[in-house]
Amino acid sequence: MRGVVLAGGLGTRLLPLTKVTNKHLLPVYDRPMIYYPIQALANAGIDEVMLVTGGNSAGDFLRLLGNGKDFGLKRLNYTYQEGEGGIADALRLAEHFVDGEPVCVILGDNIIEGNIARAADGFRTQQQGAKILLKDVKDPQRFGVPVLEGDRVVKIEEKPAHPRSSYAVTGMYFYDARVFDIIKTLKPSGRGELEITDVNNAYIADGTLTWDILEGWWTDAGTIESLHLANQLVAKTGANKMGVTG
Ligand code: DAU
Repeated sequence: MRGVVLAGGLGTRLLPLTKVTNKHLLPVYDRPMIYYPIQALANAGIDEVMLVTGGNSAGDFLRLLGNGKDFGLKRLNYTYQEGEGGIADALRLAEHFVDGEPVCVILGDNIIEGNIARAADGFRTQQQGAKILLKDVKDPQRFGVPVLEGDRVVKIEEKPAHPRSSYAVTGMYFYDARVFDIIKTLKPSGRGELEITDVNNAYIADGTLTWDILEGWWTDAGTIESLHLANQLVAKTGANKMGVTG
């Protein structure tokens, strides 16, 4: 299985912190933010990774991460997203790297306490379709929110004003190679982006999306409040205990 870390976008919700640098290079306690999602992939046994970056300071990722060996990666490839066309637009750029394999996609501002090894193993067995990870949260309106009927996810709504469950769709996704054909059919949303939620809804429509609950704490770090929270959570847990070796 290949891994893709998405670290494009302009990070405007963190201005002025992101005026001259990339959001994913900002510190989260004692490590740059990007260390955490890369390590999450490595800890799930995914050692061929592509980093999609964009915006400011793109060259700094190469200086920081090199060939990925500090994280135990076999290879680390890089590409550049022009503009801020959305999460699915950034993923599109990894099509040739993924080369028909199953892929685990992780958002560069998502930080987890535990690991996604069990979900990755589940998807290796599942092979086809998609898998998402859900987390019970206090503020679902900030995220993609699943609509559940029994234990079936029948739809995902992106940042709904009136969430229909208390779960967030976390920024870790497993897809088969059809994901790139699905992205080609997408139209930009109201905020002008190709939405990952539309990709997930396409898999729901053909009945091949599965889900798990993510164990341990999870946060994004894309707003001042969530970046502050991420710092506190990592400080309390300790990056070493989270398996971050880089
Ligand atoms: O954190 C989980 C949430 O992430 C999901 O629940 C939502 O369904 C999903 O849409 C996303 O929501 P956000 O609005 O918080 O995503 P954001 O625009 O902050 O982007 C998250 C990461 O994705 C960012 O750190 C880098 C990457 N990204 C984003 C955009 C818009 C790119 O690589 N390129 C982009 O153009």
